[in-house]
Amino acid sequence: MAFKLTWIGHATLALETGGFKLLVDPYLSHNPSAKVSAEEVEADYILITHGHGDHIGDTVEIAQRTGATAISNAEISDWLRKKGVKVHAQHLGGGFQHPFGYLKLTLALHGSGLPDGSYGGNPAGLLLTTNDGEKIYMAGDTGLFGDMQLIGEEGLTLAVIPIGDNYTMGPDDALRAVKTLTPQHVIPIHYNTFDLIAQDADAWAERVTYETDAKVHLIQPGEQFVYP
Ligand code: NI
Ligand code: MN
Repeated sequence: MAFKLTWIGHATLALETGGFKLLVDPYLSHNPSAKVSAEEVEADYILITHGHGDHIGDTVEIAQRTGATAISNAEISDWLRKKGVKVHAQHLGGGFQHPFGYLKLTLALHGSGLPDGSYGGNPAGLLLTTNDGEKIYMAGDTGLFGDMQLIGEEGLTLAVIPIGDNYTMGPDDALRAVKTLTPQHVIPIHYNTFDLIAQDADAWAERVTYETDAKVHLIQPGEQFVYP
C-alpha cells in the first residue's frame, strides 16, 4: 500500500505512508468537524502549511505529547522551536528527503499570521513524493494561481485542494485548479466546517467528473482514501 489519507475535518489530514504517521494542519480542539481529539491523535511528523489558527491548531500540544517533529517554513518553525517543539524548517521551492518521503514546499496565495500576531512568513502548499514514487499535492489555503501548472507537470497521483470559497478557492476556481494540476485523483477539503464556507460538494464533483479526467473522492470527515 502506497499511502492512506484520512480527512480528519476542515484542512486537517492524517497520512500514513511507509510506516510513518504524518499529521497535516492539526486543527482539532476547536474544529467542529473533527472526530478525533488532540489528546489521542498519533503523529511522527506534523506538517503545517501556514500560521492561521485553523491550521497550526494543536501543533504545540500534540508535538509535546508525541515527540513528533514539526515541518514548516522557517518563521513558523522558529515560533514552534521557542515553544519547545522539535522542528525541521524548509521554505518555498525547497525539498528535503525525510524518512517518509521527499517533501517540497510550494507556493500558496494566502496569509500566514500566527494566532498571537507573530509573523508566520509565507504560506505554503505541500508536495510529497512517497518513497515508492507517488506524488501527493496538498495545496493548503490558497487562491488559484497559474503556477499550479508547474506543480501539475510533476505528475500528481492525488491533489487535495480547498473548495470552500471566501478564504480560499471556491468551486469554480477549484475546478480550474483541477484542469491545471491534472491529478489522477482529487479530494476537496476546507468546506462545510462553518456556514461561511458551506458548499455543495456533490455538484462540484459532478462538474469535475464531466470536465476533467480526474477521479473525485468525496470522503467525509473521519473517512479514508486508500491508494492504490
Ligand atoms: Ni488560512
Ligand atoms: Mn484555513
